[in-house]
Amino acid sequence: MEYRIADRGLAPSGEKKIRWAKQYMPVLRFLENRYGAARPLEGTVISACLHLEAKTACLLILLKELGAVVVAAGSNPLSTQDDVCAALVENGVAVFSRHGMTVEEYFENVRSTLAVGPNIIVDDGADLVATVHTEMKHLLPGIRGGSEETTSGVKRLKSMAAEGILAFPMISVNDAHSKYLFDNRYGTGQSVMDGLLRTTNMLVAGKTVVIAGYGWCGRGVAMRASAMGARVIVTELDPHRAFEALMDGYEVANMAEAAPRGDIFLTLTGNTKVIRREHFEVMKDGAVLGNAGHFDVEICKPDLGELSLSVEESRPGVQTYSMNDGRRIHLLGEGRLVNLACGDGHPIEIMDLSFALQLESAVYLAKNTLKPGLYDVPAEIDRAVMEAKLASLGISLDGMTPEQEAYMKSWVE
Ligand code: NAI
Repeated sequence: MEYRIADRGLAPSGEKKIRWAKQYMPVLRFLENRYGAARPLEGTVISACLHLEAKTACLLILLKELGAVVVAAGSNPLSTQDDVCAALVENGVAVFSRHGMTVEEYFENVRSTLAVGPNIIVDDGADLVATVHTEMKHLLPGIRGGSEETTSGVKRLKSMAAEGILAFPMISVNDAHSKYLFDNRYGTGQSVMDGLLRTTNMLVAGKTVVIAGYGWCGRGVAMRASAMGARVIVTELDPHRAFEALMDGYEVANMAEAAPRGDIFLTLTGNTKVIRREHFEVMKDGAVLGNAGHFDVEICKPDLGELSLSVEESRPGVQTYSMNDGRRIHLLGEGRLVNLACGDGHPIEIMDLSFALQLESAVYLAKNTLKPGLYDVPAEIDRAVMEAKLASLGISLDGMTPEQEAYMKSWVE
């Protein structure tokens, strides 16, 4: 088995992290019991590009146990945990990643992950899909399909499908109810605050926190920041979401108005250059900036570099830009996903749901032949994942009585 990681000797520490995560992943354990004997992925080759930390390792090891050959790249240089990569290799998953890899290394790893010739792709941000459509087209005929984890990846897939170039079916895990309602909202809500607190040791209460983007992620972070006592200002492009933020009790402003007032800025838009030169120019001394959107383009680092005299790592995970006029602006995790670059990412129980959807999507793709295009997770899978979660909590649902069923179908009152 070929692999490229930092140090295989780190495996014992990675194994501990994986064991810890697995105990809080009842839905994956349920699927392990359900599919374990049948091994529905026997004979498939899976290439994955995901944040390589302990929860992801639980998914990758299970995919392998269900019969697949699994090869994985880390989807972000700062979210890759070297000890987890080592443990994955010990468990027979080929890994190409190391913490802190350069952009060139990252794409080299993506190519190595694809070189195995996958039948199924598990992507987070659509770099595997984009690379196989541009540089490695000879692999396209062997690919049955894939699944995509995040909003920004789905956005890229939609563009590819609209241009008519998406050559195989892709399932949008992100758009399943069991995903975005919980992962994007509550997962990001908690883990972004966790990343911020771990790296800065700052008090949130009484601070003005500016949240760019009131989508599923932004709603979650606004809710948690506000619950910790912050004054929240939301910036938006979309009038409905802006008004929703207002109805939820937050102030809404544009970034030009918010920039001089914020103590902490968090971007969650999936867009580019949301905070840029004209905003940095008017920020307070000591302003803290973090991004939780998928790509590190939301906070314009080149502008920040041009406006500053020097940059230093003032605490682990904090880059302090000393501006020409003496102000300091602190950037968390190099502007990469703050919850993963400066923490362990989403809470375990949340990723249990998202990864159950990924696993079910892989099984579905192995069993079914679909035409190229972008697909939703089948509704019955989405519901079954949620039911398995509720069952693990001992929570029962009501069922409809025959009278209720008839009532719901009729139009006569
Ligand atoms: P969404 O589409 O629900 O929300 C994005 C919001 O940002 C929209 O309301 C949009 O109108 C707004 N927006 C776009 N450009 C803007 C601008 N220039 N200024 C202000 N608002 C703007 O997307 P979702 O699901 O909330 O995801 C947001 C980003 O977070 C994506 O990049 C996604 O891939 C990523 N993500 C990150 C996670 C993490 O662990 N950090 C977890 C899940 C998603």
